[in-house]
Amino acid sequence: MVLSRVFAAASVAAIAAASPLQLQARQYGTGNATACAQVASSVAAQGATPTPSVDAQLAYNCITSVPLHKDAALHLLAGVVPYFKWQSSTAWLEDPPEEYEEKIQPAIDVWGGLEEIKAKVESEEYANEFEFGFALYTLLQSTHDGHFVYIPDVVGTVFNWARPVPLVSVSADGKELPKPYVYADVLAESFGNVSFTPSAVTKIDGEDALEYLEAWSQRGSLQDRDALYNNVFYELATVSLGPTGSGIGTFAGSGRGKWVYPGPETKLEFENGTTVTYTNVARVLVSMEGVTDGESLYQTYFSGSQGTSTVEESPANSTTPTPSASATPSATSIPAPGYPPAVYKEQHNLIGGYFLEDDYSDIAVLSVPSFVSLTSAEVDFQQVTEKFLVAAKAAGKTKLVIDVQANGGGTILQGYDLYKQLFPRGIGHAAFDRFRAFESTQLLSEYQSRFADTLPRQLIDPDVNETLYDLEGDIIASPFNYKSDLNASDENFPSWQAKFGPHERHGDKFSSLFHWNLSDVLTPYNSGGIYVHGYAELANYTSAPQPFANEDIVVVTDGYCASTCTIFSELMRQRQGVKYISLGGRAKEGITQAVGGIKGTNNYPWTYIQYLTQLTITNLTTSEDEVAKLNATELGDYWDNVVFERQAPGTSMNVNFRDGIRDTDESETPLQFVYEPADCRILYTKAMTVDVTAIWKAVADSAFGGKSHCVAGSLGGYNTRSAKRELSAEDRRLSKRMHAWRRELRPEQYPLDVYTDLKGLDLDRQGIMWP
Ligand SMILES: *[C@@H]1O[C@H](CO)[C@@H](O)[C@H](O)[C@H]1NC(C)=O
Ligand SMILES: *[C@@H]1O[C@H](CO)[C@@H](O)[C@H](O)[C@H]1NC(C)=O
Ligand SMILES: *[C@@H]1O[C@H](CO)[C@@H](O)[C@H](O)[C@H]1NC(C)=O
Ligand SMILES: *[C@@H]1O[C@H](CO)[C@@H](O)[C@H](O)[C@H]1NC(C)=O
Ligand SMILES: *[C@@H]1O[C@H](CO)[C@@H](O)[C@H](O)[C@H]1NC(C)=O
Ligand SMILES: *[C@@H]1O[C@H](CO)[C@@H](O)[C@H](O)[C@H]1NC(C)=O
Ligand SMILES: *[C@@H]1O[C@H](CO)[C@@H](O)[C@H](O)[C@H]1NC(C)=O
Ligand SMILES: *[C@@H]1O[C@H](CO)[C@@H](O)[C@H](O)[C@H]1NC(C)=O
Ligand SMILES: *[C@@H]1O[C@H](CO)[C@@H](O)[C@H](O)[C@H]1NC(C)=O
Ligand SMILES: *[C@@H]1O[C@H](CO)[C@@H](O)[C@H](O)[C@H]1NC(C)=O
Repeated sequence: MVLSRVFAAASVAAIAAASPLQLQARQYGTGNATACAQVASSVAAQGATPTPSVDAQLAYNCITSVPLHKDAALHLLAGVVPYFKWQSSTAWLEDPPEEYEEKIQPAIDVWGGLEEIKAKVESEEYANEFEFGFALYTLLQSTHDGHFVYIPDVVGTVFNWARPVPLVSVSADGKELPKPYVYADVLAESFGNVSFTPSAVTKIDGEDALEYLEAWSQRGSLQDRDALYNNVFYELATVSLGPTGSGIGTFAGSGRGKWVYPGPETKLEFENGTTVTYTNVARVLVSMEGVTDGESLYQTYFSGSQGTSTVEESPANSTTPTPSASATPSATSIPAPGYPPAVYKEQHNLIGGYFLEDDYSDIAVLSVPSFVSLTSAEVDFQQVTEKFLVAAKAAGKTKLVIDVQANGGGTILQGYDLYKQLFPRGIGHAAFDRFRAFESTQLLSEYQSRFADTLPRQLIDPDVNETLYDLEGDIIASPFNYKSDLNASDENFPSWQAKFGPHERHGDKFSSLFHWNLSDVLTPYNSGGIYVHGYAELANYTSAPQPFANEDIVVVTDGYCASTCTIFSELMRQRQGVKYISLGGRAKEGITQAVGGIKGTNNYPWTYIQYLTQLTITNLTTSEDEVAKLNATELGDYWDNVVFERQAPGTSMNVNFRDGIRDTDESETPLQFVYEPADCRILYTKAMTVDVTAIWKAVADSAFGGKSHCVAGSLGGYNTRSAKRELSAEDRRLSKRMHAWRRELRPEQYPLDVYTDLKGLDLDRQGIMWP
């Protein structure tokens, strides 16, 4: 019974029951001839504002007045099919383990859902183009696989929605269950500048606040429900990432929140009996010149003709991260409110090392909210850890807190490298990789492996021979080349057939299990230019002393640990037994998961898939006949550009290409579907939402200090911190600096609006979940 378990059956229904979203769709969804003209004149009246905005309802009336273009919609639905085939987990999504369905998310039939959308387009059941586009967006989003994403133009090109009121969810004393508060209230209170006592939100738009927020959280990209809940709120770690993070939380329109219409207003009722109503807004992202109604909006932005295709970019832009630098959002530092002065820090706050003061002078903190989202940051990122570990040891630090809050991943091999910097002799893999075995991946394996036999495996200087440089990166270093990666006994595969398989599992077919060859000379192609500590040029690191003992390290997360962050965490937990602490979560008792984001080990941008298939047909063949023959196979299905032309600009479009399979798991269940409780759960307090060191101290106390803040789970056996240490002159100087920093904090330093903006970024990072 495929269609009865169809996409979103449970998740969207839950939202419909608990929030007015669905009702509004019907109420205002029949279009409104004047709304787009009103948006256009409002935008014109706002003059040179960089990002004009209009009332959310006006924007909604406008976007839902765009008529459904049936043939074009069917074309787009056909266009996504070749790319959906690459999604590694569709069989598991349709039939997940019981524990996943019970504790994480319901089953989703992706292919059945696509058929259902198609049937609805054919029978014109969608009232307008937006209803159709949003259904397509939601089909992917409801898999809660942050690597599986496509944002159609009608969903993300013109408007981003927001509520002008970020919230936080905090516990009064670290033990009581958390309640939602308006962040501005908490901020003002913490600076002693309020004439009232901030009161918790009890109802939102007339519904129980906790139920409303839980339902809203399901619109996020993570799978774990407590992690999703945290992502609703303002968090210092996400704010510190600026345009590459999920900002001030989905409730206020950051991250995935920006694509979901929040209704015309947000009505908050507080415990003290007060009610405040806010008008929701929509940012207008494009020029509205010449737009007079829904149809003209369609012709201007959704007909594909003005497509923002990235496919015409040079191949170098479509490949794996390259060592050469490319666009970064801004060379200037991004503000990180609530973060103290760092010992070392990457300039976009992707990683930073910190020391704590006074009684916590023995603690070093490595804050890692990213595994590199910017091509230019690879080397700096690696060096921050190198330099910080040396500095921490030199300063006599004995304990290490690693904070991976807000970490959506990034460069896969940076995750391996950070682990290996901490454990120079640690085994360099904990989970296998595998990909879906079907006609396209079989042909790529066959052709790329055959071609790879004709070229040496060597690093090429792009300035010397750019074509050869691209071939080494795209073909020789590719996972389709059987000479890349290692098999289950740490050896090279003998043939492409040995690597490809296929192996039948769970009603689908997959490649053999493999893991990275970290000694590969081509590592820099896949790492953005670095080598991994302990291998290849950094092989001698295996003789370095391990900087901190396993039991002196603890990792804290907010559940927003996805992609490369999950690879890193698998290594830390499975190989080294390092304890994990999860923060926050729903207002429910009990333990939560620490790793709540996509545990797939590699995403593939659709642009890259198209590039690889076309390159194989045109460049890896030897005759016209062979081109024609190959072009008549499934590899010939990737020429149509409709998916690129109809993608919202500055958004990512990805599939989860590789599953992570724990190397001891004989059932070969992708880690994405495995429930893994944290070792300890700590609740957010108000102080933690304005001063990140409050988190680090609670973590240090719980892990090493004998004063546990765990509301569930325990770190029993840790408690290894010596009572008090004699402060050195350096410790005292640093403590003074921390006190001065804290004195100088001002509420104005905390932005109440942060806009996630991926435009101009290299979106082809292969181990990342973009916000
Ligand atoms: C059409 O949109 C305008 C602007 O939002 C609004 O004032 C008007 O009430 C809407 N009409 C209908 C029938 O929805
Ligand atoms: C307190 O808040 C008011 C109004 O928000 C502001 O004008 C004032 O500067 C604040 N005072 C301090 C000491 O921050
Ligand atoms: C009640 O609480 C809200 C939210 O903190 C606040 O804005 C309001 O001023 C409070 N009202 C009173 C009368 O204290
Ligand atoms: C990549 O694309 C950007 C613009 O999107 C362009 O400026 C840059 O030159 C391209 N890089 C290469 C290597 O082609
Ligand atoms: C660059 O490499 C390609 C592929 O091996 C080769 O065909 C070409 O002759 C090389 N070009 C130069 C200038 O060496
Ligand atoms: C790995 O490949 C080698 C040959 O290259 C083979 O001898 C070995 O059995 C393979 N290991 C596994 C687990 O398939
Ligand atoms: C890994 O890669 C290196 C360099 O490319 C190669 O020499 C080696 O044979 C590969 N396999 C293993 C098992 O290290
Ligand atoms: C490894 O070699 C480099 C120089 O090649 C040296 O700077 C570094 O100290 C060595 N590391 C270890 C752990 O021996
Ligand atoms: C593929 O072939 C085209 C046309 O012959 C050529 O311009 C391009 O450089 C080739 N690309 C690679 C990576 O070999
Ligand atoms: C492959 O076939 C498609 C039509 O299906 C065509 O548009 C494309 O140009 C062909 N490519 C080559 C290299 O022949």
